[in-house]
Amino acid sequence: MRITVFGTGYVGLVQGAILAEVGHDVLCVDVDQAKVDGLKAGRIPIYEPGLEDIVKRNHAAGRLSFTTDAAEGVAHGPVQFIAVGTPPDEDGSADLKYVLAVATTIAEHMAEAKVIIDKSTVPVGTADKVRDRVAEVLEGRGSDLRFDVVSNPEFLKEGAAVADCMRPDRIVIGTDSPEAEELLREVYAPFNRNHDKMIVMDVRSAELTKYAANCMLATKISFMNEIAGLAERLGADVEAVRLGIGSDPRIGYHFIYPGAGYGGSCFPKDVKALIQTARGIGFDPKVLQAVEDRNDAQKEVIFAKIARHYGGDLKGRVFALWGLSFKPNTDDMREAAARVLMEALWEAGASVQAYDPEAMEETQRIYGDRDGLTLVGTKEAALKGADALVILTEWQVFRAPDFDLIAERLKAPVIFDGRNLYDPARMEKRGFSYYAIGRGR
Ligand code: UGA
Repeated sequence: MRITVFGTGYVGLVQGAILAEVGHDVLCVDVDQAKVDGLKAGRIPIYEPGLEDIVKRNHAAGRLSFTTDAAEGVAHGPVQFIAVGTPPDEDGSADLKYVLAVATTIAEHMAEAKVIIDKSTVPVGTADKVRDRVAEVLEGRGSDLRFDVVSNPEFLKEGAAVADCMRPDRIVIGTDSPEAEELLREVYAPFNRNHDKMIVMDVRSAELTKYAANCMLATKISFMNEIAGLAERLGADVEAVRLGIGSDPRIGYHFIYPGAGYGGSCFPKDVKALIQTARGIGFDPKVLQAVEDRNDAQKEVIFAKIARHYGGDLKGRVFALWGLSFKPNTDDMREAAARVLMEALWEAGASVQAYDPEAMEETQRIYGDRDGLTLVGTKEAALKGADALVILTEWQVFRAPDFDLIAERLKAPVIFDGRNLYDPARMEKRGFSYYAIGRGR
């Protein structure tokens, strides 16, 4: 099938690439000329395991092309995915200007019936807005071409995007049109074998499903972070509690890891956006607000432990920082706990020697050459002469380090672990002052 994808960000690029991988003829459209040129030359703008191979292979095979020409994108075929960004507005609600701009473009150029699919995470009611926009532009053109607007949210995780897209656990389709449903069944047939993963529902429910999924996961994390705070103060160990509750299949072991707070481009943005949606209709989102408040507070927890350890005296101190990205296997720094911590340390007059397996360039791009930040090439180099080690991302390479070397290189054996990577009792035996989340101190 001939498929167009507007937007070559995380969602659009991965989606386009895997649709080409299964044999569809995919054209990706982006307004960013440099990005499109890069993609044509095999340069992938994000770090995502497996993506580069798939993009290069399918581009070489002629099944995956890139263009900035929107008219060409619209003419390419009947299936038009909208996968452009929805950055948060000042008040946290999702800004739909890019989504609606694509809707306008499709309506301006279409010369045959189209199925327009919202793939971006968009607030409930967006499909109606897209429909109204397309209808308005078509009317202006004096055209009565048929079109459908479908909601088809994406559930991929950064760092596992290709695998998630190739083997989705569900394919949510929001539509009231049997023809559009049939077309999407064809698009997704290669991913829908063994058992039917398509869950078809009305458009608004599909839109809300996406937010409900992310907000439920964010809630689990904030809940566990709250329990961690309680465990610390009650003399309990949150890791034992985690094991104890996860064994109940109704709770499960997924997404109950306490830590330095959730980050990324999705949870913080989507929780905020659903709060705004609720407020906008006069509904008080008490649970969602608590989830957000807990997360904001959680990002301060490691700093508070550091300040307490040094009796508030942080001026001139140097901290080794392992982990900058908001989670492992990505170079994404959006809403990362590391940013909140570094900024608090700088504010307090301390400096940071940081290492991350993938996010060094991104950190450089965000902070440039600023006082108080030294980016180093290895995790060992970060330790040299530092007062303490702080860990904020659970990259595999941080899980079993040489503790003797850490103790030797630091001024004193002190570790602040925002991801609970090590066993507190063993760390004590090794002679470390070890601070984790919800475990003792
Ligand atoms: C999230 C969802 O997991 C995806 O299903 C969804 O499709 C995606 O958002 C999206 O809307 O596009 P992602 O943001 O890539 O995916 O990252 P997650 O793996 O969900 O992690 C989010 C944050 O939660 C990270 O900062 C992570 O460290 C934190 N986290 C996760 C915890 O603190 N504890 C946990 O137990 C799990």
